[in-house]
Amino acid sequence: MDYDRVIHGRIVDPVTSVQEAYVGINGGIIRKVSGKELRSPDITTILQDHYIFPAFIDPHVHLREPGWEHKEDFLTGSEAALNGGVHTVLDMPNLPEPVTTPERLLRKVALARKAKVDVRHFAGVGNIDLIRENARLAVGYKIYTAKSTGGMMLDRENAEKACRIIAATGKPVTFHCEDEALFTQSEFHGDARPPESEVSAIVKAADLIRKTHVNGNIAHVSTKEGLAAVRESNLMHEITPHHLYFNRESAAGPLFKVNPPLRSRADSAALVDSVRRGECMLATDHAPHTMAEKLSSDPPSGMPGLDTYGNFVLWLLRAKYVSPAAAAKITSYNAARFFSIAGGRIAEGFPAKFTILGTEGETVIRNGDMKTKCGWTPFDGVTFPGKIIRL
Ligand code: DOR
Ligand code: ZN
Repeated sequence: MDYDRVIHGRIVDPVTSVQEAYVGINGGIIRKVSGKELRSPDITTILQDHYIFPAFIDPHVHLREPGWEHKEDFLTGSEAALNGGVHTVLDMPNLPEPVTTPERLLRKVALARKAKVDVRHFAGVGNIDLIRENARLAVGYKIYTAKSTGGMMLDRENAEKACRIIAATGKPVTFHCEDEALFTQSEFHGDARPPESEVSAIVKAADLIRKTHVNGNIAHVSTKEGLAAVRESNLMHEITPHHLYFNRESAAGPLFKVNPPLRSRADSAALVDSVRRGECMLATDHAPHTMAEKLSSDPPSGMPGLDTYGNFVLWLLRAKYVSPAAAAKITSYNAARFFSIAGGRIAEGFPAKFTILGTEGETVIRNGDMKTKCGWTPFDGVTFPGKIIRL
């Protein structure tokens, strides 16, 4: 049979790994993956120094709409995603009006129609009685165990109640793990929210997950001990590019202020192990704030990351010896499975959406090339290997 379209090149599937193949596409769905030539009036051959990945999925972004459109909106945030090779984003609920009701979720769904990528929305947990009603519209729930931008937070007792109800909905929950009881008065952000606060909160979340049987994910694990704790409980977890690339010795100043904070070089190195094994989800925690806000006397926490997602994956392949199959797991497959959303494989029945990375050449990251409305990147001036290929 003839296909609408055939893509021919070096494909990366998280299950079957790397192979040269012909991908036959009809109606936007992959119908066949074959080592032999497939027929189509529209055949695209992609060069051999390129990898064709399942389209990247970022399970943790803050696109800021409605309420903080001066930082980002669904159009600019989605353009930043496409710039980084990300085709699906899962958007967080910490807005000036926290997204904890079906009305607010519906409003976000409508606003996100202008996005150029698929946007799915987390429900925050406010009124416990609304959790069940939010299940239909939400991709999952977000529980903050400490305050960050937006000030959302659940105490332990309410978190347990919430998890029981969430478990009954069958939807997953992402935990922001920092324990405020272990925060200090230090002037230095990294010491004010120390590693112990993360580890303590992860251990408590793991306990809650075990007790309530909720499907739990630990957001942005930043410490060696935190990683050990998620592994001990065999929990899905996210790791961010900034916690892998930067550390408190190499990157200082308000642009790098983030929750959880940048940690030691040894912590960054330890996190790479989860990446290499394909255990985690690579999540940007894209948290745009304007340069003026970041340089103010009271800088907010968070940094953008969507524009540079694909470049960062190339760095993982080249500089950290991450295998292509492990990269496919952390950039799409694990998130697709954990959140029950489309994508994550180049195989029959999966959507024909791809991210293509070229391993030749290099890319210098510049603030001026970013699509995020905030207009800057923590990687400004960094040279990454390879290029993102746009067909
Ligand atoms: O640094 C952070 N910024 N951590 C968070 O948890 C929230 C985020 C934001 O929304 O700015
Ligand atoms: Zn976040």
